[in-house]
Amino acid sequence: MTLDDAFKALSSDALKLIKNNYVLGLGSGRAATAIVRSLGSYLKKNKIKIKAIPTSLQIKIEAEKAGIPIIEIDQIEYIDLVFDGADQIDENKNMIKGGGGALLREKILINTAKKVVIVADESKFVKKLNRSVPVEVHPFARNTAAKQIKKYGGKPNLRIIERGYPFVTENGNIILDCDFGNIPKPKELATKLIEIPGVIEVGLFTKPDIIYKAKENGKFDVLT
Ligand code: A5P
Repeated sequence: MTLDDAFKALSSDALKLIKNNYVLGLGSGRAATAIVRSLGSYLKKNKIKIKAIPTSLQIKIEAEKAGIPIIEIDQIEYIDLVFDGADQIDENKNMIKGGGGALLREKILINTAKKVVIVADESKFVKKLNRSVPVEVHPFARNTAAKQIKKYGGKPNLRIIERGYPFVTENGNIILDCDFGNIPKPKELATKLIEIPGVIEVGLFTKPDIIYKAKENGKFDVLT
């Protein structure tokens, strides 16, 4: 049994939360992809109709492949349910997200949702958050924002992809991956960072409603 088996098993369980005519938010990354891949056949089998809002081109393509109808966020009043992944989750269920660069749209969808379901493998769970925090920054503020982040004790690193090109988000911004060491008070840090001029969004997220923890032995836990 593997993590993939755990993702498949928990997807079957998590999809039962969906009701007819729901608007779903689809996060980005591996965990969200596992959900989306099971979603298409689940909807057909159970004759459930939904509409979905993707947070990135990556998950939009997966949703299209699975035959899931897509809708624009401006066409809805709220989202019933968001399925998403996480890069790190602490003992109070605070999260770091944005490893794939989709943090802005993920935060918008999560903030618009009645219920948020996070799926993450067991390696993502820690006592205190300690991995680098993705911070989406307008390119004009690349250096000014970095200076302010350093004053707050962070070590900002411009996210780079192959051959030295800066990573550019789907919103046309850059990402500074900021190392703060242990983060005992994520909410306070997020409040300070979001106030820096040029910072568009911060990859620190508060407690979701439900967390599915995928385990190496193919099983999963549900944390609420
Ligand atoms: C996308 O930008 C992220 O917020 C993802 O949700 C996060 O990186 C988790 O991705 P995986 O499910 O691929 O680990």
